[in-house]
Amino acid sequence: SIDISTFTKQTGYTALDYGFVNTAATRSAITYIDGDQGVLRYRGYAIEDVAANSTYLEVAWLLIYGELPTPSELSEFEERIRRHTLLHEDLRRFFDALPHTAHPMSVLSSAVSALSTFYEGSLSVRDPEQIEISTIRLLAKLPVIAAYAHKKSLGQAFLYPDNSLSFVENFLKLNFGTMAEPYEVDPVLSKALDRLLILHEDHEQNASTSTVRLVGSTEANLFASISAGINALYGPLHGGANEAVLKMLGEIRDSGESVERFIERVKNKEQGVKLMGFGHRVYKNFDPRARLVKQSADEVLEALGVQDPLLDIAKQLEEAALADDYFVERRLYPNVDFYTGVIYKAMGFPTRMFTVLFAIGRLPGWIAHWREMNTDPATKIGRPQQLYTGAPARDWPQR
Ligand code: ACO
Repeated sequence: SIDISTFTKQTGYTALDYGFVNTAATRSAITYIDGDQGVLRYRGYAIEDVAANSTYLEVAWLLIYGELPTPSELSEFEERIRRHTLLHEDLRRFFDALPHTAHPMSVLSSAVSALSTFYEGSLSVRDPEQIEISTIRLLAKLPVIAAYAHKKSLGQAFLYPDNSLSFVENFLKLNFGTMAEPYEVDPVLSKALDRLLILHEDHEQNASTSTVRLVGSTEANLFASISAGINALYGPLHGGANEAVLKMLGEIRDSGESVERFIERVKNKEQGVKLMGFGHRVYKNFDPRARLVKQSADEVLEALGVQDPLLDIAKQLEEAALADDYFVERRLYPNVDFYTGVIYKAMGFPTRMFTVLFAIGRLPGWIAHWREMNTDPATKIGRPQQLYTGAPARDWPQR
């Protein structure tokens, strides 16, 4: 690899790289991916081991601080997060100003952006104490904001967090509990959700993480940078794919179109139709997260006693695509989003919440990258070049 800025200075050349296919914008010690081998490691640990043995908050610590926490570090971390789950009452009222039809991803990014107005100390981006407390506040409050966005869409009262519960249990209760009845957290559900969140926690320089780093490189604070990351995640080519997959499966089921016919339409690029949840910029043989999620899909649906024809359609699509030259030649395989939607649906989440769940999952990775960027002496404001294709210099017309 070469340092492009030295190369540019010495030769006068500029590299044109649409989509940053071959441009490294930073060094990073957080996550390793080998796209050809289907390898993903968080701080050196294989994703398969992490998913089987850890919890969302333990992995968050690992990503943010670089090593696994000791048991006492972990319990102190969990306790600190528990103590910061409450939203300022004015922020609770912020939801009143939004329409109940608002997409929860828009609500999420707006509310996270609004956190800067409540915690102005966060603007001191060189103050380690402020960075630490902003980290805790984000991890504690994002799930609460997400659950309120869900409750708002249902027209139901918001619940206050319950500090006797674990992180994921609390989140489930805030989403599915009501004021009218006690809520028993199903351990199958909380375990499965914890595992899915772990699988989403980091994925090095994906579009939303790169957005967080780019915004952060201007010395914008953590809340502003994460809010931008949430907006980047929203698009259907990135985190929004989980919502798009379920829509696609539902349309196939409702129209009665055969899986083979749908695949033909994808191959013919009819109206730009894609097999959502397939393909990845980095993984060209398989996505290790997709393998783990597919396993979970069967286990969770069985444990919850849910039978969903959409899971069968998804499996048929995968089978048809993997046997088809179009997909094989282009090295297109299911990505992490292909089966997650079916599981989230079985858990009771509405489709519009799927990308929100991804955002909660990805939050620790975004924070870890922002902090790494913020303390790296090599960081510079992100400022890509362009190749100008417009009009040459011309005279202003006489009028
Ligand atoms: N369905 C059909 N064809 C596809 C798909 C797909 N899902 N993905 C890529 N292709 C085709 C492209 O049309 C292109 O074909 P061509 O060479 O005939 O023009 C070829 O495969 C290469 O695709 P690119 O778009 O160049 O690949 P890129 O790396 O830029 O895009 C992306 C990756 C955005 C993920 C793409 O595969 C896609 O749009 N997939 C569907 C959306 C999706 O699932 N996104 C989630 C990604 S994972 C994540 O963010 C968590």
